[in-house]
Amino acid sequence: MGAEGEGAIAREVARRRTFAIISHPDAGKTTLTEKLLLYGGAVRQAGAVRGQRAARHATSDWLELEKQRGISVSSSVLYFEYQGHRVNILDTPGHQDFSEDTYRTLMAADSAVMLMDAAKGVEAQTRKLFQVCRLRHIPIFTFVNKMDRFGREGLDLMSEIEDILGIDAVPVDWPIGSGSDFRGVYDRMRERLLLYSGGEHGTTRVDEKVVEGAVDDPRIREALGRDYDDLAEHLDLIEGAGAQLDPDAVRAGEQTPMFFGSALTNYAVEPFLDRFLGLAPCPSSRTSDQGEIEPAKHPFSGFVFKIQANMDPDHRDRVAFLRVCSGRFTRGATTQHVRSGKSLRLANSTLIMGSDRREVEVAYPGDVVGLFDPGVFRIGDTVSDEGGFAYAGIPNFAPESFMRVEVAATPKRKSLEKGIAQLVQEGAVQLFEDHSAAAVTWILGAMGPLQFEVMSHRLKGEYRVDLQLTPLPFKLARWPQGDFDPDLFRHAERIKVVRDGEGRFAILAHNDWDVQRALERHENLELSETADPELFEAAR
Ligand code: G4P
Repeated sequence: MGAEGEGAIAREVARRRTFAIISHPDAGKTTLTEKLLLYGGAVRQAGAVRGQRAARHATSDWLELEKQRGISVSSSVLYFEYQGHRVNILDTPGHQDFSEDTYRTLMAADSAVMLMDAAKGVEAQTRKLFQVCRLRHIPIFTFVNKMDRFGREGLDLMSEIEDILGIDAVPVDWPIGSGSDFRGVYDRMRERLLLYSGGEHGTTRVDEKVVEGAVDDPRIREALGRDYDDLAEHLDLIEGAGAQLDPDAVRAGEQTPMFFGSALTNYAVEPFLDRFLGLAPCPSSRTSDQGEIEPAKHPFSGFVFKIQANMDPDHRDRVAFLRVCSGRFTRGATTQHVRSGKSLRLANSTLIMGSDRREVEVAYPGDVVGLFDPGVFRIGDTVSDEGGFAYAGIPNFAPESFMRVEVAATPKRKSLEKGIAQLVQEGAVQLFEDHSAAAVTWILGAMGPLQFEVMSHRLKGEYRVDLQLTPLPFKLARWPQGDFDPDLFRHAERIKVVRDGEGRFAILAHNDWDVQRALERHENLELSETADPELFEAAR
């Protein structure tokens, strides 16, 4: 690549921020996303994204299921320009049964925003998603939402994050008042007070009053009146605890900068966006099997982190979501699909914004491009102009719900096999083989029952097969590492040895207690929560 090209790409890389929002359902992810779009100028009035979603629901038969169940199965990428930054938000499905999709999306993000409800603190789903971020060592930013309602004390939330998640929480700003008296925040880093009013119940931008000054400045005291003592006392305690923001510790994922606000009323949303973009990293080098690939130094490359079927209700299609990792993506260019070694023309490339689709002409590292997929892509595939290297891929996360496929009871066996193979390739479900009886049987693994429901729906719609499933009592899968003797559990009642889609041994267990017991009994046994634990390290 010429020096000029490299410089231009480096500038595009430096201004990009690609992140995902992780949260427990109902913490306000949709609302916050919408408000970020409002401040980024991507929508003029909040409510537009929800409205688009509703419109799409109305026209799609497959998404009818989403509507019926009030869930979001499909997700997309949202992007906007804000103060010179190109912001890419990797949208993720809200329901925990689809959390595998969220885990994969986190493999494509450069940072994550952990959103929590001020009244609830760290919830179960957040904890799990947080673990995936931790494994990847990506920076995590905390936004405490719903400050317009009475919630828990900020200090209490800080210690909960530290105790439960084991990461240092450092407030960047601190709330002034709470519930209906929530007025704004004091920005500790820039030493200024931000007070809010207006905003027409969050549909438009709020009015912001800025008062510059250190906490002991008379202007701050005057502006706050009776709220002043509380602020001064809390900030004293925070300073006393030594909570200083260290950008290196943030980048290493050891410290989480903490923000407070209300996505509903828009209070303190913009300063969060502003500071977040300043602290969050731009795309950096990624590990491949041939070493580090630098975003601006190498020609175009990327990897597929997600495959979504039927995004367009009028066509049965599949879109592979490609995260660009290096170089410049140009529509119509010819590149290589590394796994098959075949050349690939990037003719059908779209940017997906909510339910809108637009052709993408160029894209840079950190951007996500939707590629029309005629069935060639698998999750984790590398695409590269240079060829000769593959990105680390995406681990299979342990399913938590298992069903036996009743093949004999299903007529049209060929269609069934084809359909299942297709859905496995898309990553919609994981396939295991049970070799314990004379005839091999199939077990499907998913995060939760809704994933099976979607699968049945699709097999019926696309392959005209009625899937017969029998629930199994297993609740987790683990992958043995190193040498493993499959006869170890031949007579175990609560553990079953199977093979995964790649032929590797896996064990299915009723619960964590069974796993612990197995580990105690067999001291050489080593079990991993993903099929490929090394991928986490490699995907850094
Ligand atoms: P999710 O995507 O994380 O599941 O959450 P979502 O944004 O859909 O928000 C869940 C509920 O919480 C919504 O209320 C939403 O209005 C509310 N909410 C989000 N942010 C805030 C906030 O800052 N303050 C308060 N008080 N509420 C907030 P809902 O009644 O379930 O839906 P709706 O009828 O308001 O759409």
